[in-house]
Amino acid sequence: MDDRYKLLKPGHRIVDLGAAPGGWCQVAVDRTGSTAADVRVVGIDYLTVEPVAGATILLMDFLDDAAPDKLMETLGEAPDIVLSDLAAPTTGHRPTDHIRTMHLCDVAADFAIRTLKPGGHFLAKTFQGGTERELLTLLKRHFVSVHHVKPPASREGSVELYILAKSFKGKRAEVENLQDEVEDPRVHDQADEEAGPLG
Ligand SMILES: C[S@@+](CC[C@H](N)C(=O)[O-])C[C@H]1O[C@@H](n2cnc3c(N)ncnc32)[C@H](O)[C@@H]1O
Repeated sequence: MDDRYKLLKPGHRIVDLGAAPGGWCQVAVDRTGSTAADVRVVGIDYLTVEPVAGATILLMDFLDDAAPDKLMETLGEAPDIVLSDLAAPTTGHRPTDHIRTMHLCDVAADFAIRTLKPGGHFLAKTFQGGTERELLTLLKRHFVSVHHVKPPASREGSVELYILAKSFKGKRAEVENLQDEVEDPRVHDQADEEAGPLG
C-alpha cells in the first residue's frame, strides 16, 4: 500500500497498532530511517513480537485505558501516521466478529484524531463491506480525503479492506465543526450524504 500511496517518509513518526508479527514495523523502520538511538516507530500488540531493530513494540492491549498515553510517551512527539492492522481473533460467529473489528477500528480512529500532527494520515483495517457510515462521517470531518483501499497483497478472494484518511485537518477542524453544529443543526445529514458513495 505504501508503494502506491507513498505515506511513509524519512523522519516520520509512526504508530503501528496491532504490530505482531512485525511486518509493518519493519517496512516503517526502513522507510522512516528509525534507529535504536532515535526511535520513530512504536508498535503495540498483546502478542509477543520478535524485536525489530529501530522500533519499540509495546506488549500491551491497545484497549487498555493506559495504552494511548504509553504509546505517546514512547514516541515522544505526535505521530505523522497512525497505522492500524488490528484484527480480533475470529469466533466464526459473523456478527460478533463484525462488531469486534468495528470497535477496534473506532478506537484506532479516535486515537488518530486525538494524537496526529496536522497533515498526518490514518490507515486502518476495516470490515467486510466497508466502513460504517458513522465512522466515515467522523473521518471526513477531520481529514481532507477518505478512501477505501484494497491492497494487492491481500489474499485472493479475501475480504480484507482498509480505510485511508489523508491530511488530518488538526484541532482547528474540531472547533470549527462544533461551531457548525451550533449554527447549523443539519450538518449531520449533509455529512452523511457525502459519505454515501465511498466504497
Ligand atoms: C493482522 S495482525 C497484524 C499484522 C501486522 N500488521 C504485520 O505486518 O505483521 C493483527 C494483530 O492485531 C492484534 N490485536 C488485536 N486486538 C488487539 C488489541 N486489543 N491490542 C493489541 N493488539 C491487538 C493481534 O494480536 C494481531 O497480532
